[in-house]
Amino acid sequence: MWILIYLFIIWSSLRTWVAAVDFTVGDIVNETVSTAVWPTMSPQMTVAFRSQRDVMGNLTIDQLPYVGLNLRQVLFNNQTNMINEGNNTRLLTLFKSMLSSEVNAFVLDLEQHSNDLMVADTTLLFSDVLTALQSFIFSTQNNLYANIMVLLLNISASMPENAEYSYQNQTLNTTSILDKNIGSTFIYKPTDLQSDRAKNNTWNIYGKSSIDGWPTLGSVLYEQKKRLVIGELTDVLNETTAPYIFPHNVFHYEQGNITLDCPSTVEGLVNLSSVHWRFLDSQFNSVDIKEYISCGVSPIISNPAYINNVTHLADLIHGGNVWSWDNNQPSVTRSTSKSGDLSSALEAYNCVLLYYFANNETVTWRVDNCYNSNIGLCRYKNTAFKWLVRSNKATYFDFDSYQGSKCPDQYTFNIPRTPLEQRSLISYLKNASFPDTQIWIDLNSISVSNCWVSGGPYASCPYEKVISRRNFVKMMVPASVCSFALLCIVVYLSVLKVPIYDNRKNWRRVINKISKSELEGVPS
Ligand SMILES: *[C@@H]1O[C@H](CO)[C@@H](O)[C@H](O)[C@H]1NC(C)=O
Ligand SMILES: *[C@@H]1O[C@H](CO)[C@@H](O)[C@H](O)[C@H]1NC(C)=O
Ligand SMILES: *[C@@H]1O[C@H](CO)[C@@H](O)[C@H](O)[C@H]1NC(C)=O
Ligand SMILES: *[C@@H]1O[C@H](CO)[C@@H](O)[C@H](O)[C@H]1NC(C)=O
Ligand SMILES: *[C@@H]1O[C@H](CO)[C@@H](O)[C@H](O)[C@H]1NC(C)=O
Ligand SMILES: *[C@@H]1O[C@H](CO)[C@@H](O)[C@H](O)[C@H]1NC(C)=O
Ligand SMILES: *[C@@H]1O[C@H](CO)[C@@H](O)[C@H](O)[C@H]1NC(C)=O
Ligand SMILES: *[C@@H]1O[C@H](CO)[C@@H](O)[C@H](O)[C@H]1NC(C)=O
Ligand SMILES: *[C@@H]1O[C@H](CO)[C@@H](O)[C@H](O)[C@H]1NC(C)=O
Ligand SMILES: *[C@@H]1O[C@H](CO)[C@@H](O)[C@H](O)[C@H]1NC(C)=O
Ligand SMILES: *[C@@H]1O[C@H](CO)[C@@H](O)[C@H](O)[C@H]1NC(C)=O
Ligand SMILES: *[C@@H]1O[C@H](CO)[C@@H](O)[C@H](O)[C@H]1NC(C)=O
Repeated sequence: MWILIYLFIIWSSLRTWVAAVDFTVGDIVNETVSTAVWPTMSPQMTVAFRSQRDVMGNLTIDQLPYVGLNLRQVLFNNQTNMINEGNNTRLLTLFKSMLSSEVNAFVLDLEQHSNDLMVADTTLLFSDVLTALQSFIFSTQNNLYANIMVLLLNISASMPENAEYSYQNQTLNTTSILDKNIGSTFIYKPTDLQSDRAKNNTWNIYGKSSIDGWPTLGSVLYEQKKRLVIGELTDVLNETTAPYIFPHNVFHYEQGNITLDCPSTVEGLVNLSSVHWRFLDSQFNSVDIKEYISCGVSPIISNPAYINNVTHLADLIHGGNVWSWDNNQPSVTRSTSKSGDLSSALEAYNCVLLYYFANNETVTWRVDNCYNSNIGLCRYKNTAFKWLVRSNKATYFDFDSYQGSKCPDQYTFNIPRTPLEQRSLISYLKNASFPDTQIWIDLNSISVSNCWVSGGPYASCPYEKVISRRNFVKMMVPASVCSFALLCIVVYLSVLKVPIYDNRKNWRRVINKISKSELEGVPS
């Protein structure tokens, strides 16, 4: 009898934490960014986008893929103005929905009116746009939603008669406009870059500290808690009088029809990566936007639109944003065991396979069963573009276990972290004449469903809320100890056939429940 009581206690404590996990998972699945006018991102897309951000955390901010809008071309223009009749509420609402839709670069045309800046062709002040931006930053200043944004300014003088003077008019103080409407704490400033460089906190693509590099996304977002990089495309402002704004020569900005000459050799990719902040301002369609992104160019969408049809661009933006996962991925499959009895095949759809299609030389990511045997992806040291795939198949847990990974010395189990890294992987697979292939990559949600993390099967989910409820390593130990104890007892009882036979059905129910809850996220 005491055994039954003991088991019941174990079982109910397991149920408690499984319930806690369910709660967290629900939180993550159910979030969508919704507005009345702009199509919402699906929950999957939100999760996909976040997982990309997390994979890129150790990359420098100048090498990240951004998807941007040229605001004058798509929203703030004369056509809008005629319909809008001077009411800017809708304009700003649309701008906010673009922010929620993960557009993370903007080109804004400004005109200088004596000591103030106005958005060209509109009755909006620069400060109105900044205030909208600030409220977005406030509402997303947490580990789940924070992301870096780039604001590029195209400044011109409005009045032709005083054009030659207005540039030098000392009464224009961008610092005070930005201080008042955004707050200097959110801005990554030229002085921050200087101090990062002085501290050796800036990097090249080999992960070596470099004097002309930039800091990593993780450092900017989570350590320095900065959200915004502001640059000027024109050459109007002066570094000493506008100290929050990076000058135009920091950015590599091109406009119009550019034919892509995308490198496929490692050397070519390294050369391309040595160019910081690569933007192309042009008209895009749903196919070519992906090609530019896969070639390491950040698109600034300039397709003509205005207040009544700018939402047509949402699909283009969403399609551009997710460069990694397949459509409708990551799928939200809950782990189950087929019939609930211990002998059936184990399933845990919490691991990621990279699919390579040899016919069209594309790759895409899909969720798969961690217990399946597949080959895995290895990267050489800290180099961005050097890959290795061998033919040793293993389950996800065996490919990269506590004993080490199946990758050879100097190589680690890895993942393409940017579109450009993914491109180099495609070249590698193509040159090595791989057929259609499926490869484990270092991304899984074993610790918590929908929380995709790198760092092997034992990596834990970084979000505070989740960590406080459940820590993988801590949970792992009692769960396995319990099931081992159970197993011993069951074996003992079934061998000895002690007079507990009447209670067998109960036993089985308890065991089934425990084995199920284990499979919910802690396959061991
Ligand atoms: C999501 O929210 C809806 C209602 O807001 C609720 O009915 C549904 O159960 C939630 N889904 C999850 C997975 O929590
Ligand atoms: C917008 O209208 C103003 C005059 O109202 C004109 O000067 C300007 O060229 C127009 N801009 C565009 C992009 O058509
Ligand atoms: C502007 O438009 C919004 C809705 O589009 C409306 O609620 C508001 O009253 C309008 N404001 C003015 C001053 O017309
Ligand atoms: C700057 O603009 C103000 C307001 O229009 C004007 O009074 C002042 O003379 C201008 N200063 C210069 C140096 O042009
Ligand atoms: C900047 O504005 C000028 C007109 O004021 C325009 O001709 C130019 O194309 C704009 N540049 C960008 C990058 O939008
Ligand atoms: C601009 O405004 C800031 C306060 O926001 C002030 O500290 C700074 O001295 C001003 N700069 C100039 C050139 O007036
Ligand atoms: C940065 O790196 C350089 C060269 O490796 C070294 O000389 C310098 O002391 C380092 N600075 C700091 C602050 O660590
Ligand atoms: C990224 O992570 C690795 C391993 O943790 C580290 O050695 C490297 O310096 C980091 N930074 C960059 C920019 O790669
Ligand atoms: C910026 O303006 C200050 C004051 O007007 C001037 O001394 C300095 O030389 C200017 N710097 C540049 C890079 O133009
Ligand atoms: C860009 O290319 C498209 C299609 O190739 C063409 O229709 C368009 O006129 C071109 N635009 C410019 C500015 O050359
Ligand atoms: C919006 O409408 C204008 C004018 O009818 C058209 O030129 C433009 O292509 C449309 N833009 C989109 C994104 O549908
Ligand atoms: C590439 O080929 C695969 C299989 O033939 C197909 O499923 C996939 O959609 C293709 N990808 C693209 C981008 O055409």
